[in-house]
Amino acid sequence: MKVVSLVGARPQFVKEAMLNLSVRKTNAWNHILVHSGQHYDANMSDVFFDELKIPSPDHYLGVGSGSHAETTAAVLVGMEKVLFAEKPDALIVYGDTNTTLGGALAAAKLGIPVAHVEAGIRMLPRNMPEEINRVTTDHLSTVLCCCSEAAQQTLFNEGIHSGVHVCGDIMYDVYLHLEHLFDPKSICEKNNVVPGTYVVATMHRNYNVDDKQSLKEIINGLVQLQEMTNLRVVLPLHPRTRKSLEKYSLLPLSEQLCLINPLGYIELMSLVLGSKFVITDSGGLQKEAYYAGKRCIVIMPDTGWRELIATEWNILCPSSGKMIIQQIELLNKPLKKSFGCYGSGDAAEKIINLLIRSLT
Ligand code: UD1
Repeated sequence: MKVVSLVGARPQFVKEAMLNLSVRKTNAWNHILVHSGQHYDANMSDVFFDELKIPSPDHYLGVGSGSHAETTAAVLVGMEKVLFAEKPDALIVYGDTNTTLGGALAAAKLGIPVAHVEAGIRMLPRNMPEEINRVTTDHLSTVLCCCSEAAQQTLFNEGIHSGVHVCGDIMYDVYLHLEHLFDPKSICEKNNVVPGTYVVATMHRNYNVDDKQSLKEIINGLVQLQEMTNLRVVLPLHPRTRKSLEKYSLLPLSEQLCLINPLGYIELMSLVLGSKFVITDSGGLQKEAYYAGKRCIVIMPDTGWRELIATEWNILCPSSGKMIIQQIELLNKPLKKSFGCYGSGDAAEKIINLLIRSLT
């Protein structure tokens, strides 16, 4: 059996790492890895392949950055060629990026079964690029691997019944697998912060960083947070966010925060472990904060990880600086972490078994 796996953006490298390892360990199938090239900077791509020990991709599409149409179309065209050449039994895609949608479309048009890892996640606004990618990919897929019962139910509600299974979150597998390498002390020393006295913040969503007013409000909120709480805000800057800060002349304001370059997986998890709490609009980091036992303010109007909002472990905060400050009060409320929202760390194994069962 031959399976092609497609990655292209940071969270997909993390998910692939675990699946790739499990496939190699069990000799489950002939695994062909494709990198779309949507993320291409060394600190957005190579660092993940190196530290997560992901084998070099068999194909690199080199799509780079561009408009949504340009990147999605480049993946579609590139993947069609790869799928023609490789003739796989299935294509695995992850999450919600333009890479995900381009790959799913190429395979579906060729009649190749698509397995979607992280299926059934929905969040508002409906016109968010990632939401369009998620919904469309789910409806093109034949095997749908859900992180939770809620995600499975979402697919049932949309009339998708066949091929839907709860496998748990593969990002939890990765977290458990690499937990012994996390080193908060070293990363804190490197960035001149003291464990327990800082907050990790990240943002990259279009509605947070492409609009000058929204970005300014968030940065203002983080600066105020520093002043009010004596906590330092450490902000690993996504290249898209850095470009916006430059474009809107917001760099001087944001330099009051501790701005650092994007981090690889192990360094970011180490930084989170040493932090007081997390503020983010990243889908992956919301869950990773939970795995690390850190509460999280989610600067989004909605999130797909509703279990974490329902347990009040994470707090939803539409992007306004004032609201970020108000929500911090809520973080002082003592909470018992409810374990097991996203499986037990064996998602990779479940996905592999499911795919084998579905295809043979
Ligand atoms: C993408 C995904 C998002 C995911 C995120 C993880 C889509 C629509 N969005 O968002 O779901 O959560 O990845 O990080 O696919 N850039 C660089 N170097 C790079 C990569 C990007 O400079 O290596 C800059 C470019 O200016 C680019 C911009 O960042 O235009 C945005 O990159 P893009 O891949 O389009 O979207 P992300 O914001 O990274």
